[in-house]
Amino acid sequence: MASPPRRVSSPLLYSLASLPLFHALPIYPSSFLSLLLSRSLSSSSSSSSSMAPQEAAASVAQKSSSIDEAAPLRNRVTVVGSGNWGSVAAKLIASNTIRLPSFHDEVRMWVFEETLPSGEKLTDAINTRNENVKYLPGIKLGRNVVADPDLVNAVTGSNMLVFVTPHQFMEGICKRLAGKISGDVEAISLIKGMEVKMEGPCMISTLITEQLGINCCVLMGANIANEIAVEKFSEATVGYRENKEVAEKWVQLFSTSYFIVTPIQDVEGVELCGTLKNVVAIAAGFVDGLDMGNNTKAAIMRIGLREMKAFSKMLFSSVKDSTFFESCGVADLITTCLGGRNRKVAEAFAKNGGKRSFDELEAEMLQGQKLQGVSTAKEVYEVLSHRGWLQFFPLFATVHEICIGTLPPSAIVEHSERTPK
Ligand SMILES: NC(=O)c1ccc[n+]([C@@H]2O[C@H](COP(=O)([O-])OP(=O)(O)OC[C@H]3O[C@@H](n4cnc5c(N)ncnc54)[C@H](O)[C@@H]3O)[C@@H](O)[C@H]2O)c1
Repeated sequence: MASPPRRVSSPLLYSLASLPLFHALPIYPSSFLSLLLSRSLSSSSSSSSSMAPQEAAASVAQKSSSIDEAAPLRNRVTVVGSGNWGSVAAKLIASNTIRLPSFHDEVRMWVFEETLPSGEKLTDAINTRNENVKYLPGIKLGRNVVADPDLVNAVTGSNMLVFVTPHQFMEGICKRLAGKISGDVEAISLIKGMEVKMEGPCMISTLITEQLGINCCVLMGANIANEIAVEKFSEATVGYRENKEVAEKWVQLFSTSYFIVTPIQDVEGVELCGTLKNVVAIAAGFVDGLDMGNNTKAAIMRIGLREMKAFSKMLFSSVKDSTFFESCGVADLITTCLGGRNRKVAEAFAKNGGKRSFDELEAEMLQGQKLQGVSTAKEVYEVLSHRGWLQFFPLFATVHEICIGTLPPSAIVEHSERTPK
């Protein structure tokens, strides 16, 4: 196997990477240099929605001059999902497809159709106002985002599919798409979660590959959608299996001056980090709800990270230690335990002494957005019970038992602190 390439992600960083001086730099370059370079990058990669009209026109004109040669090879992108993160992903992608010659401008976005309280269809509202008024209000998606409520129609003709729905809906979506996607289509999953089947746990990227017969990368990271929507700097990790070129195409599609993407060859490690940190975030929320303070929360995060790593490596021996130090690992764990929706609802659950169910609190607090941590805790618990691993994972086991009411929220410290054998 070739030695791992230097981690460079933005177009300017790619061109810098060819300079001898750049290779002499002894450090992790992507985030540090991108901060230094963000000013010079911003004119070339800011979103079309935030450009002045003249700049947007110039960007499109510049692109169309190179379109003719690229036309037969241009990639078409569909985003399957239009929730909070799905809408932000569409915005990021649309800001790039409009300026990069190798992509068609238009980004289709499949919408699970809903009728708004006004009586208007969500799809019509998105296409009229260029804004997902329910899941990402106040943010323009880019005029080249086209919402479509017909799943099969939305993916037809696209060779790059971005899956970004709550994980519990993916089995049904795959069933509806099975047999309708050509084998050379590439997919990426931004979905945090897993399916537990009779034969064992199945990661969402594997579900996509098995049911649709296509290769699937993953993108995970410290990415609270609302912060990226307003273009605050953050990083993400693309996990790929073998084909680095495909991973680089995804990096190109997602990278902007404020969103730095690094490819690594560890699909399972990246996906398990994104999935399992939601269980730890539930534990962090219990700690907040019981006012246990920052030391306790840090201890819970540390124990959680240890269990994330052990669980991932026990399931897939290929998972790399270094993956836990990428954005998808420790950074995502920190941001989710400080600010995510799993933490927030778990905090309310603990404040109510476990007397109001997660379903009730989710419906009241999230207005249609979905929690992933509670269902993931259940799925992880099933794997642990089935494999006889419960005693090795006291934090994961305790989170599920609190969620289903077998233990009180205060058990999060009483039980998690048992040293796993
Ligand atoms: N929101 C974030 O900050 C964030 C960040 C990173 C990753 N993620 C992950 O992205 C994935 C998608 O989350 P999101 O934030 O875009 O969604 P969301 O929770 O904001 O919205 C729920 C979505 O599910 C759709 N939906 C409801 N019922 C459905 C059904 N029966 N079939 C199909 N779709 C249905 C809704 O229309 C809506 O688009 C999740 O796996 C989540 O963990 C979210």
